[in-house]
Amino acid sequence: MNVLIVGGGGREHAIARALSKSEQVEQLYCAPGNGGIAALAQCVPLSATDVDGVVAWAQTHSIDFVVVAPDDPLALGMVDALEDAGIPAFGPRADAAIIEASKIFSKNLMAKYHIPTAKYQTFTELAPALAYIEAEGAPIVVKADGLALGKGVIVAQTVAEAQEAARSMMDGRKFGQAGARVVIEECMTGPEVTVLAFCDGEHLVPMPSSQDHKRAFDGNQGPNTGGMGAISPSPNYTPEVARCMEEIFLPTVAALKAEGRPFQGVLYFGLMLTPDGPKVVEYNARFGDPECQAVLSLLETDLLDIFLACRNGTLDHLNIRWKDGAACCLVLASGGYPGSYAKGLPITGLEDAGQQAVVFHAGTKLGDDGTVFTNGGRVLGVTATGPD
Ligand code: AMP
Ligand code: GLY
Repeated sequence: MNVLIVGGGGREHAIARALSKSEQVEQLYCAPGNGGIAALAQCVPLSATDVDGVVAWAQTHSIDFVVVAPDDPLALGMVDALEDAGIPAFGPRADAAIIEASKIFSKNLMAKYHIPTAKYQTFTELAPALAYIEAEGAPIVVKADGLALGKGVIVAQTVAEAQEAARSMMDGRKFGQAGARVVIEECMTGPEVTVLAFCDGEHLVPMPSSQDHKRAFDGNQGPNTGGMGAISPSPNYTPEVARCMEEIFLPTVAALKAEGRPFQGVLYFGLMLTPDGPKVVEYNARFGDPECQAVLSLLETDLLDIFLACRNGTLDHLNIRWKDGAACCLVLASGGYPGSYAKGLPITGLEDAGQQAVVFHAGTKLGDDGTVFTNGGRVLGVTATGPD
């Protein structure tokens, strides 16, 4: 099969590596790809959000299957457009990807189907939002409704901080339209754990749990980022598996199906293990980055078989196998990230590092002479597995 992956970060490199091991894959393409993916797949100079461009390119290049990995093209309906054009695709349609693209949608879904999550209210006007914050007190959490590159969540320690966050989102439009509506919710406590799950619209198969490290610096210091590293499995999670399956995972898949929005793809459960039991912090409609790099390092089954089963509704026929042991992905970022940083610096030592670990590329670019240059904030994800 000719397979096209849409995206160009560390997550897509990990997906490309897993798919490149499949005997069913004849030619692998990636749009836009990056300096590391170029060794496994032919990179196509198309933006990951160019829905029409990707559909047209896939049609003219005899693509048999497309894997849409990032949140933006999923929310834009790239899977819908591909399927409508007769090209099978992995990932949720826009009406199911909304579980990530709108926090108001996901909170209302959880309320309707009794899925445990933080108590909340949604607001479209600033004045009642400020009054609600005043009445509830701090700590309290303010979230932009829409996609905001993982930065639209403020865990405020004071009423003033929460009100300032609401003001900058709703009046200042700090996150554009994404912040025009906000969710204000109770601050939960407890360890956080991520569970990614394969879904085929009806069935769900959880992957080994994981946990990402969000702060930029060591010792849980510094600003929040998209993720500076991840481990799998999470040491916090083991006793909660059955309870999460029964109270959260299966009810979520059933809820989306009941709403006429069956979810096919990877559903990301961001959970907090609170003193009252596991609760949902957030849903994503895709693999996490860098959780994907750690988790897929443990996969033994052919990833293309799994993706096809998700697309075809046959996940219950598949026995998905994982390696024993643990995986860790450590991100190397440009100095200054998540603020401003330089680009275009040469990277050396990749081959040596590759002898001992798998070096996934995120923000890198291949120069004409084969030199790899930095090209983003998160640059590399050095990933290894071991017994614990
Ligand atoms: P989100 O983008 O929704 O995952 O939020 C980003 C981070 O904010 C989460 O990983 C949590 O650490 C924190 N967070 C979000 N919602 C809550 C909440 N209700 N209580 C405590 N922390 C939260
Ligand atoms: N690492 C968090 C995310 O991908 O959303």
